[in-house]
Amino acid sequence: MNKKVTVVGAGFVGATAAQRIVEKELADVVLLDIVDGLAHGKALDMMQSAAVESFETSIVGTTDYAETEQSDVIVITAGIARKPGMSRDDLLKTNAGIVGSVVEQTASRSPNAIIIVVSNPLDAMTYLAWKTSGFHPSKVIGMAGVLDSSRYARFISEAVGCSIKDVRAMVLGGHGDTMVPVPAYSTVNGVPITELLSSDIIEQINHRTRHGGAEIVQYLKTGSAYYAPSSSAVAMVSSILLDSKRLLPVCAYATGQYGIDGLYCGVPAILGQSGVESIVTVPLSPADAEALKQSAHSVKSLTDALSI
Ligand code: NAI
Ligand code: 2OP
Repeated sequence: MNKKVTVVGAGFVGATAAQRIVEKELADVVLLDIVDGLAHGKALDMMQSAAVESFETSIVGTTDYAETEQSDVIVITAGIARKPGMSRDDLLKTNAGIVGSVVEQTASRSPNAIIIVVSNPLDAMTYLAWKTSGFHPSKVIGMAGVLDSSRYARFISEAVGCSIKDVRAMVLGGHGDTMVPVPAYSTVNGVPITELLSSDIIEQINHRTRHGGAEIVQYLKTGSAYYAPSSSAVAMVSSILLDSKRLLPVCAYATGQYGIDGLYCGVPAILGQSGVESIVTVPLSPADAEALKQSAHSVKSLTDALSI
């Protein structure tokens, strides 16, 4: 029997993530949205591409949470997205109401699922999803570091003039302006970028990475990025469903690692069938360690603003 993934929110990120999941034949998908007909229409359209794309997995669209029962993974993309001039943090109140209600309705119907949160502000929404679900913290994970690292990798490949296939990049911390690109663990086929690029160029790339989401919002004007975000969420879904145990930067519940305690924040972790199987701790330079501490501090302020 195929695995089952529920994607809540059939907007840009959710629908594209659903498409990637069925096209890769990772799982059957239930796509759910509060807007009547939206998920249904998109799911029908995707199913009608199955003959051309040659996939045998299925997708149904619905507004009914009963259809989400016994999902293996629940991806939450419901919420509002940024408009130009808005920070991710501006979304806090509205999206907290939405994410809270989505988790209430999905967690009880799929008590063994792993929840992946995408809705912003990411770190606070992941904390909220964990609290609302009552799940073990290893089963509630946020997606941001995979995206931020993928952006970083792209900018590195452009600056070095090398194949993207040889780049491995690492961005830690909260999904906001304080995120921490880590040059020491960003390499071109094992060679740290500090050996390949000047510190000025690295700083320019770090800056562009921190503002990578805003750069796209400026162009789109009415929404935010979704191709790379959906790829990134699906990379996490895949590592969980296939039990690949990939080491990915994800928003996980830290219990003292990197000096972060009792908080969801971006850290490197092994992702497998039981969710976050371990948080990997590696030495950081004093500057990166301090930046991560500051980033966790910002995440804490926002998480505290939820008052939960
Ligand atoms: P979108 O506006 O295209 O889609 C959001 C969907 O959620 C809409 O279809 C809407 O009808 C639905 N929705 C709203 N309330 C709902 C509810 N109570 N139940 C079910 N569905 C509901 O937005 P987009 O671009 O797909 O972004 C979704 C979220 O993901 C935003 O909060 C955005 O900021 C965030 N995001 C996070 C990223 C990350 O790295 N963590 C990257 C990209 C986006
Ligand atoms: C992004 O980084 C908006 O969080 C979203 O593109």
